[in-house]
Amino acid sequence: MSSFPDIRPRRLRRTPAIRRLVEENRLAPAELVLPLFLKEGLAEPRPISSMPGVVQHTRESLRKAAHEAVSAGVGGLMLYGVPTDDHKDATGSYGLDPAGILNVGIRDLVAEVGDSTVIMSDLCLDEFTSHGHCGVLAADGSVDNDATLAIYAEMAVAQASAGAHMLGASGMMDGQVGAARRALDKAGFQDTSILAYAAKYAGAFYGPFRAAVESSLQGDRRQYQQDPPNLREALREVDLDVAEGADIVMVKPALPYLDVIAAVRDRVTIPVAAYQVSGEYAMVEAAAANGWIDRDRAITESLTAIKRAGAQIILTYWATEVAQRLRY
Ligand code: PBG
Repeated sequence: MSSFPDIRPRRLRRTPAIRRLVEENRLAPAELVLPLFLKEGLAEPRPISSMPGVVQHTRESLRKAAHEAVSAGVGGLMLYGVPTDDHKDATGSYGLDPAGILNVGIRDLVAEVGDSTVIMSDLCLDEFTSHGHCGVLAADGSVDNDATLAIYAEMAVAQASAGAHMLGASGMMDGQVGAARRALDKAGFQDTSILAYAAKYAGAFYGPFRAAVESSLQGDRRQYQQDPPNLREALREVDLDVAEGADIVMVKPALPYLDVIAAVRDRVTIPVAAYQVSGEYAMVEAAAANGWIDRDRAITESLTAIKRAGAQIILTYWATEVAQRLRY
């Protein structure tokens, strides 16, 4: 006598142990990457109001945060340098300076944690330009792609010389991966890898980050970052970055673009990363602060969703906290 229904998916949900046994995606500390902000000339770490729990670091607090992340088993660190205003100029020259805040920070991280994690740095000019764009401007005010590539090439060598293991090509200039790759190879840095921000969308979710890096940007980045409605265009960007020598491709933001992550994952054989950006972080923190959402579960659920979509590496401001939670 069979009773309908014979097939009961609920059997596999009956106890926590059964659910654990059949879990398809499980987060691990090693796949989480922590973005860090190093602010020049700061005496004390400075909280970022739109990103509760995230700070602009001093050189000292940066080392401490790096150490904590590594102890928790975090897979990588992505460093952003925030210069003082007087070090910003039209071409972002301080980004190329070996004594500039980002290159100094890379060296500090190398000294603090060495090869025990992956030290990554932001290969982009927006923190260093007085106008806040990711590249230099042409006479008509647009961002000059090819003039910017020449600067990225030099900046890549400066960061590799400082000891970065991996460079985050985040500017969305055409040819940025190839330009950095060639410059690195020519300078003897064949082994420095490139994380390509292959599909980076010009959306509304970067607001808190711009406060974090004290961006000087007026206007937007729509002439170089992607338009949110487009998916096929992301695949074109990914194909180009792979052809230019990217070691890892990334989709950014993450949660609003899970379909893009999944499509990229199907397309390539190199690792796929996703960036859970500042706005994604701020939304959960703000809702939790109001008592509207279970913070810890929302964090885990969002990260798991990003992994399920196909990202095997996730940049997240919660990296250390989540890694600790997973370990203990
Ligand atoms: C640009 C860059 C941005 C972010 C990372 N790298 C900002 C932008 O495009 O304006 C955003 C990250 C975040 O929002 O968390 N170098």
